[in-house]
Amino acid sequence: MRKPFVCGNWKMNTDRRGAAALAQGAARAAEQARGVEVGVCPPACYVEAVVAAARGTPLAVGGQNMHFEASGAFTGEVAGPMLKELGCRYAILGHSERRHVFGETDEFISRKVHAAFKFGLLPILCVGEKLQERQAGRTEAVVHRHVTSGLAGLTGDQARQVVIAYEPVWAIGTGLTATPQQAQDVHAFIRGCLESLYDAALAGDVRIQYGGSVKPDNTFDLMRQADIDGLLVGGASLKAEGFSAIVAESARAKEV
Ligand code: 13P
Repeated sequence: MRKPFVCGNWKMNTDRRGAAALAQGAARAAEQARGVEVGVCPPACYVEAVVAAARGTPLAVGGQNMHFEASGAFTGEVAGPMLKELGCRYAILGHSERRHVFGETDEFISRKVHAAFKFGLLPILCVGEKLQERQAGRTEAVVHRHVTSGLAGLTGDQARQVVIAYEPVWAIGTGLTATPQQAQDVHAFIRGCLESLYDAALAGDVRIQYGGSVKPDNTFDLMRQADIDGLLVGGASLKAEGFSAIVAESARAKEV
């Protein structure tokens, strides 16, 4: 059984005090959520404060990005061992903002995925099409490329532990959520990709999150879908109450 996983991506937001307060709220939500894993990905500079606030609770912490080298002359970058040392379990890799604002390529992201495993972190691999790609009927081709290149060279044991986040670029920060059916269709397609790359058992084990304008009031219908195993939440994860409601709604959707 796939344990649902709801994770907040705070992006370049919060301050030190706000991060600790948000983390405390998320930690409470994690303690109350029945059968749902809860995580937050703060800016790198607040990871330590968030890990401290999460200590002794089930709240998982992740980085929003990392470089594939362990150390070196890479001004402004954060390395996997640094995130690991601070207490991170996850690293978001290949987020659309990294792909499209910072020009990260499939090959670059693949190296990061391998580095995450090397340094003891689990990748949250983001995939998803842009609006023009959807309109041109290329959603599946783009998602297939992101999934195939993102997992290239991983053993089955590693691939099973990757969390895939389907985030249609047109739904991120726009208020335009994919409909539950649109998301389910792509999630099922991703599971099919996993089956052809590996096998049906592995495909059935991989958790696939949806991300893009998730809010408390659309959570239940999204999480009711058979292949939606969790959520990657941007803006709505910056309010403790809203994020807790998303966690609670996710638990309710999966237990009914
Ligand atoms: P929003 O929830 O703000 O649309 O952001 C989604 C996202 O990019 C999460 O990684």
